[in-house]
Amino acid sequence: MPGYPELPEGLAYGGDYNPEQWPEEIWHEDVRLMREAGVTLVSLGIFNWSLLEPAEGTYDFSALDRVIDLLHAGGVRIDLATPTSSPPAWFRRNHPGSRLVDREGHVTGGASRHGFCPSSPDYAAASERIARRLAERYGDHPAVAMWHVHNEYGWTNAQCYCETSAAAFRGWLRARYDGEVQRLNAAWGTTFWGLTYGSFEEVEPPRAGAVGQLTGLQLDYARFSVDAHLANFRREREAIRPHSDRPITTNFMIPACKPMDYWRWAGEVDVVANDHYLTAARPDGHIELAMAADLTRSVAGGRPWMLMEHSTGAVNWQPRNLAKRPGEMRRNSLTHVARGSDSVMFFQWRASRQGAEKFHSAMVPHAGTDSDLWRDVVGLGDDLRRLAGVRGSAVSAEVALLWDWESYWALELEWRPSVDLSYRERMEAYYEALWREHVTVDFAHPAGDVSGYRLVVAPSSYLLTEAAAKNLHRYVEAGGHLVVSYFSGIVDEHDVTHPGPYPGVLRDVLGVRVEEFHPLPEHGTVRLDGGEQGRVWSERVRPAGAEAVRAFATGPDAGHPAVTRHPLGAGSAWYVATALDGTAPASGLRELLGAVLDGAGVARRRDLPETVELVRRGAHTFVINHGDSPVTVPGVTGTAVLGGTGHGGTVTVPAGGVTVVRH
Ligand code: GAL
Repeated sequence: MPGYPELPEGLAYGGDYNPEQWPEEIWHEDVRLMREAGVTLVSLGIFNWSLLEPAEGTYDFSALDRVIDLLHAGGVRIDLATPTSSPPAWFRRNHPGSRLVDREGHVTGGASRHGFCPSSPDYAAASERIARRLAERYGDHPAVAMWHVHNEYGWTNAQCYCETSAAAFRGWLRARYDGEVQRLNAAWGTTFWGLTYGSFEEVEPPRAGAVGQLTGLQLDYARFSVDAHLANFRREREAIRPHSDRPITTNFMIPACKPMDYWRWAGEVDVVANDHYLTAARPDGHIELAMAADLTRSVAGGRPWMLMEHSTGAVNWQPRNLAKRPGEMRRNSLTHVARGSDSVMFFQWRASRQGAEKFHSAMVPHAGTDSDLWRDVVGLGDDLRRLAGVRGSAVSAEVALLWDWESYWALELEWRPSVDLSYRERMEAYYEALWREHVTVDFAHPAGDVSGYRLVVAPSSYLLTEAAAKNLHRYVEAGGHLVVSYFSGIVDEHDVTHPGPYPGVLRDVLGVRVEEFHPLPEHGTVRLDGGEQGRVWSERVRPAGAEAVRAFATGPDAGHPAVTRHPLGAGSAWYVATALDGTAPASGLRELLGAVLDGAGVARRRDLPETVELVRRGAHTFVINHGDSPVTVPGVTGTAVLGGTGHGGTVTVPAGGVTVVRH
């Protein structure tokens, strides 16, 4: 990583290493095999707390000392974890008040990881202590390349509903509303149903059982919960910092973990690290993977990031855990690299024999090294050595999709106009259309600087502040192009509708007024006058400056606009009032976006088959063939670093293969 000479050279390769599950003679074999595979970095000690501190205040670092020395002797660098995602059994017993309480009021069981309340002062003290002990002991060990604090904050304990959390929430609200409960009442709109609070003491977490709870309360509870986890991260980070100059991070779960607002997390880590698991049953899973990588890069502010976990093959927690097909692990890995990762790491090094994850794939499978999977692992190590020069380079994009976790939460609260409204569904539909058009995209926060993009797309911006709307207005006036999908610009940060007709704060920039929503029945469709089909949504759009590009031909809004375009200043703003998908004649989202891309002057390849993913990262072009037959791609000049050399800038990529060319 640029600026982090402590990390191994080139692209880091490795995975989670859990030697405590194995007798010591296996550790020696592990290091030998790591060298064979070209492993340079392992995440060590993630679930080690009960061994390091077998009883409260009693420590034993002897096994960790030995494994660290062994890895060091073998030239494998260490991403040293604090083990605080899995508190020991004694912690639960000694500190019963720290147990996680779910929304229904169940005290969650033990015998698993997480399980603690993020606001627990006892957890805070215990986790800080073990982090400090580790940093004091290993902070300047030459094998330690970086710190892996905790593991996946907020995965199964994102929100706790215990009395400790309730009290912490009240304190958080006091600070947010300057100690004045009337400000809270005004923000949440508590005159509705007479829900006004007389003091902060009266506020309770949004526990289960009550129907139609204040949505402002629910959103603030989500924000408070992010802050509780962030505080835990910061506390450990600050315990480590005085003893170590190595980069400190924690592994995010973009985009799987809805409750964590990673825009807020990004500034807290020295390098962004992400875990991504392919949804193997989805035929287009590789497109969702590309989206996750682009979103991670964007959260990292465009800087290189680290793929901290993915899988060599099947996971153990999907309904049907499909193995990866031949070449798929390599394509997945290199897609992450193409889109900005400076590492390829897996969960985990050696497949477990015990516990919940014994059927999860690993770098060393149960089948051992005489297996295709192991040969693929060794081959990938070789690929990554050849790609060392990619490290540190950037990906640039001309198009940005707006992504906001707060809008994601708000859109999917109860009592929306339709249960078919889904944040991810629209986001993925637009992402996929752009992917198939061979357009590389960034993601941006709606209030962030988007001035450098030719096109900004807002597939799901239900919650949008006035400041963000002004940001978009300025962007279009200055010559930007904007596409907005239905049910956007509707509410403020407290889920209160913006005054006046829909689409609220986006009315002016879009040049439309929406009189009424007409969500469609389950599986219902409408036709547009260009023959396209819409799903989920129809609404009565009245142009107020915009021109109709398409009208509804059927359904409750037949004869009224379905797609509009508003020339504004030096730019234009498009509005799409139904769910379009794919390619004409079915639905035409790609054709629509194609026209917008052309109008915005976005460069794109039109000569590639849809199964080819072509991404430029710095001086390298990655050509990934997801199809079943070889493809010939012209216009890629340079030296092939991976895959066959081309002639006159034309490369042939075998079925399922990857070619990387350096310019
Ligand atoms: C991750 C987690 C790992 C392992 C993996 C299995 O979410 O960090 O420890 O459980 O999932 O896919």
